[in-house]
Amino acid sequence: MQWQQQTCLLTGATGGIGQAIAKALANKGVSLILQGRSESRLQQLSNSLTGEHQILVADITTTQGREKICSMAELNTISMLINNAGVGQFSLLEDTEEAVIVDTLEANLLAPILLSKALLPVLQKTNQRQATPSYLVNIGSAFGSIGFAGQSIYCASKFGLRGFTEALHRELADTNVHVHYFAPRATATSINSDQAMAMNQALGNSIDSPESVANSLIQQLETGHARQFVGFPEKLFVKINGAFPHIVDKALFKKLPIIKRFLRREKDVEQTAQEVLS
Ligand SMILES: NC(=O)c1ccc[n+]([C@@H]2O[C@H](COP(=O)([O-])OP(=O)(O)OC[C@H]3O[C@@H](n4cnc5c(N)ncnc54)[C@H](OP(=O)(O)O)[C@@H]3O)[C@@H](O)[C@H]2O)c1
Repeated sequence: MQWQQQTCLLTGATGGIGQAIAKALANKGVSLILQGRSESRLQQLSNSLTGEHQILVADITTTQGREKICSMAELNTISMLINNAGVGQFSLLEDTEEAVIVDTLEANLLAPILLSKALLPVLQKTNQRQATPSYLVNIGSAFGSIGFAGQSIYCASKFGLRGFTEALHRELADTNVHVHYFAPRATATSINSDQAMAMNQALGNSIDSPESVANSLIQQLETGHARQFVGFPEKLFVKINGAFPHIVDKALFKKLPIIKRFLRREKDVEQTAQEVLS
C-alpha cells in the first residue's frame, strides 16, 4: 500500500470511529477529504491532524449532499472512498417509528450504494492514470452478519451493505478497484446510547476503542483482505451464525430478557425526553 499517494474521501469523519480512522490515515501520509455535517467539528478535526486536509459539509442522505461529495471527489481525483458514516438503532420493531426505519436504511445502506456508484468512475480513472489500485471500503458491523434483537433495522442495513460489498468485490475482480468490507464489533462511540452501552456491559460484550478499530482497518488495507471482522469471539460467532444459525439462536434467546430490560429503559428515556420537549 502506497499510503502517501492516496487521496481519501472519508464519510462520517467527525464520529468516534471516523476521527480515529482520519488520524491513522493522516499519520500514514494520506491526503483526506473529511466529510460530516458539522463544519466546526470538521475544522477542529482537520486542524488536529498531521498534514493538509480538506473538509466537506454534506448530508449523505440527500441528493444535494451526495452531489456536493461527488464534485469534491472528482475535483480531487480520489483514490480511496471510505463509506463510514452511519446511524444506530436500539428499539423493538414495534416501538420504531417509520421515519427512523427510513433514515437508518438511507444512511447505512442506500447512501453508501449511491456514493459507490457515483464515485466508481472517479476511482477507475484515478487508478488508470496512476497505474496503481484504488480502494472502496464499506464499514459494516458484526451485526451485518448476526441478527440481534432490538437492532432489526440496523441489522437489515448492515446485512444489506455486506451483500452489496461482496457482490461488488466479485464484480470488480477484473479491475484495479479493490473493494473491502470492514466489520467492527461494539466500539465506544456516541452511536451507542447509554442504555446500549450498559446492555453490552451486562452481556459481557467486549467494547473496543475507536483507535484499535482504526488500526485494524489499516491492517486490513495493508494485507489486502477483502473482509475483516474485528475481535474474538465475535468473528467466530459470525462464522457459526453463517453455518449453524440455530446454535446462535439458542445463545441469544437466553440473553433476550437482559436485552429487553435495556430496551425498556431506552424507551422510558426517550418518552421522558419527548415529554420534556413538548
Ligand atoms: N460504534 C460501534 O459500536 C460500531 C460497531 C460496528 C460498526 N459501526 C459502524 O461504524 C461507523 C461509524 O460509527 P461510529 O461508531 O463512529 O458512530 P458515530 O460516532 O455516531 O459517528 C457517525 C458519523 O456518521 C455521520 N453521519 C450520520 N448520518 C449522516 C448523514 N445523514 N450524513 C452525513 N454524515 C452522517 C455523523 O455525522 P454527524 O456528526 O454530523 O452526526 C458522524 O460523523 C458506522 O457505519 C457504524 O455503523 C460502529
